[in-house]
Amino acid sequence: MIREVVQIGDPVLRRKCEPVREFDESLSALLDDMKETLKKEAGAGLAAPQVGVSLRAVVVDVEEGYFEFINPVFVWQKGEQTGAEGCLSVRGKMGTVCRPSKVKIIFQDRKGDKYSLVARDFFARAICHELDHLDGVLYVDKAADVRDSED
Ligand code: CO
Repeated sequence: MIREVVQIGDPVLRRKCEPVREFDESLSALLDDMKETLKKEAGAGLAAPQVGVSLRAVVVDVEEGYFEFINPVFVWQKGEQTGAEGCLSVRGKMGTVCRPSKVKIIFQDRKGDKYSLVARDFFARAICHELDHLDGVLYVDKAADVRDSED
């Protein structure tokens, strides 16, 4: 089911999200909906608070594939990259954000199994952007400039 993407100004985007504790049917339904919503919106990532759910779950869809990260935590962040970013919760805008160029995270999947993953370049950027959402941080807080996007 496609869910409505919450827009900037909604307090749910500014809350620190709760850890996922139950790896049940409702988590699977949430993730399925987030995946469907992300595909429809043609975004690179979506965090649960963006569909109004204050839980530590994100989905990312990049060149490397489609990923679901539950309770993700950074192990380390290295380097630096500067590039353009947008957000489905900040429609019609984009900004330049400095991010780490390489990150390692640990996370759980929808069954609760634990994994780690190293990502670089745009994949690392997408992870940083989505993990920020879980702490109530939006890219506009970090962008050197926020401007109207072309599309
Ligand atoms: Co975003």
